[in-house]
Amino acid sequence: MSFTLAEAKAADAADPLRNFRDRFHLPEGVIYLDGNSLGPLPKNVAPHQRAVVEQEWADGLIRSWNTADWINAPQRVGARLAPLIGAKPHEVIVTDSTSVNLFKLLVAAARLSDRKTLLSESGNFHTDLHIASGVADVLGLTLDIAPRAEVEARIGADTNVLLLTHVHYKTAERFDMARITARAKRAGTMTVWDLSHSVGAVPLHLNDAGADLAVGCGYKYLNGGPGAPAFLYIAEHLQEKLLSPLRGWMGHAEPFAFTDDYRPARGIDRFMAGTPPILGLAALESALDAFEGVTMERLWSKSRAMFDVFVGLMEARCPEFRCITPRGEEQRGSHISFAHDHAFEICQALIAEGVIGDFRAPEVIRFGLTPLYLGFEEIWQAVDILARIMAEERWRDPKYAVRGKVT
Ligand SMILES: Cc1ncc(COP(=O)(O)O)c(C=O)c1O
Repeated sequence: MSFTLAEAKAADAADPLRNFRDRFHLPEGVIYLDGNSLGPLPKNVAPHQRAVVEQEWADGLIRSWNTADWINAPQRVGARLAPLIGAKPHEVIVTDSTSVNLFKLLVAAARLSDRKTLLSESGNFHTDLHIASGVADVLGLTLDIAPRAEVEARIGADTNVLLLTHVHYKTAERFDMARITARAKRAGTMTVWDLSHSVGAVPLHLNDAGADLAVGCGYKYLNGGPGAPAFLYIAEHLQEKLLSPLRGWMGHAEPFAFTDDYRPARGIDRFMAGTPPILGLAALESALDAFEGVTMERLWSKSRAMFDVFVGLMEARCPEFRCITPRGEEQRGSHISFAHDHAFEICQALIAEGVIGDFRAPEVIRFGLTPLYLGFEEIWQAVDILARIMAEERWRDPKYAVRGKVT
């Protein structure tokens, strides 16, 4: 593919989403291709954080739970997020981490049936498998971890819950949510979807897909900041049937009655456990402003165009990398991954030159395509820098082999 720098500039000039990048703080000299791991800082987060800290906390003190409506932040931010996943406002809350939400939903769902097997995919994000193994231990279930190609066939008469990540963290392969959910339902199995690499990246229609339960991260494509609280979705028809195994006071029907007995709150609120992290919720709430005025369909169409440019340039200029992301637009998410034996060192050399992607062991380099703030020229430049690093073998410098605690 001969996509030139001039064509990249022209594509940016014609891009109706071009001005959305002004909503973000993007450091000079950096091409940020890691928004699938930690989104950049939206510009209105800091002023909002300052107001929450300096007015609501400093002056309002404990009164702000009521006066600034801190107490309803999990539901309010959940309702804000709901349109991005095709859910009703009262079907989503923002609370805890993705891992903890997975635990709560898996236990709650598994307790609805006598079936003895939890099913998931080998190579799923490890927290999902670790949490599922903990749930299996606690409930005396068997965890069946099937290769991706066999997952659907393994849904059987004893499958209690199916846990899948919609867009794979490494390869970006995407499951067909509606088809698999329906297939699982026919077998009497409930599905829990991990949307960490889907939300804010691809159009999602959980209600239309008949999805029962889902979780997802706040700090990736949603740009909620490091360790942002996660979200949890429960389809309306299940909300009164499920009980959280973490019976915290914030999930109680009357937290401020201070009673010894536990009575679950109505609806999804019972899936809260402890005190909501207000600063994290406030950051995510203002980060979601960046999605105002654009549909996920529009973002996805730019993501697809960026993918085609990226893959074409890589084939032409860096053929030694093997693309492990499917080409079909229905089969993938919004990041693109390549395998290379020296992926770690190459990723470090790229970062040293201002192109930030990330490495996933043992041999994958990932690049997030985030249409809200990324342009075609940046993609052209990123591949150009990579091609030069490869041609000059700059990645062989021993300093690029040094691994930090976070890779
Ligand atoms: C698929 C998936 N699930 C969950 C997580 C992280 O979960 P937590 O919010 O508990 O750290 C990640 C993080 O990268 C992920 O990729």
